[in-house]
Amino acid sequence: MSSKNKQPKPTQKYGTVRSNVPIALGSTAREASAAHLNQILADTMTLRDLYKKHHWQVSGPAFYQLHLLFDKHYEEQSELVDTIAERVQLLGGVAIAMAADVAEATGVPRPPKDREDPTVQIARLLEAHDIIIAEARRYAKEASEAGDEGTNDMLISDVVRTNELQVWFLNEHVL
Ligand SMILES: [Fe+2]
Repeated sequence: MSSKNKQPKPTQKYGTVRSNVPIALGSTAREASAAHLNQILADTMTLRDLYKKHHWQVSGPAFYQLHLLFDKHYEEQSELVDTIAERVQLLGGVAIAMAADVAEATGVPRPPKDREDPTVQIARLLEAHDIIIAEARRYAKEASEAGDEGTNDMLISDVVRTNELQVWFLNEHVL
């Protein structure tokens, strides 16, 4: 920024949707879907980063296996982040993007900076998945009721299925 305090005028305010998006879906439905997707986006970005934290900080007898698994899930969550963010834009909305804004918006609890035992790492990841899966199912149903079947399909086919599969791989470490 050239001046310290004055921001340039935005081309679109966060939380609004463009009026002229010819996808046969009213602005009320698009605005609701964009808001829900931004919540899922903030939570998915947080889970993505939680995977990288645990990829780096993991320890113990299963170090190598968990190190690789956490990074695989990180990559899959990164792909989801892009899919969700671009759907917010496609609907005429504004995708949440920066870490500080994501931290304010997410419902996923903040972990400590400290290094933790793998059982605690896995418990944190499972909790985050549970939060995302629950809200994705709820938002998918609401999107369908509002006529936004594209959002419904993305939430179920991409978000719910990816998260469910990752939960399986994590949860089999827990006896
Ligand atoms: Fe790495």
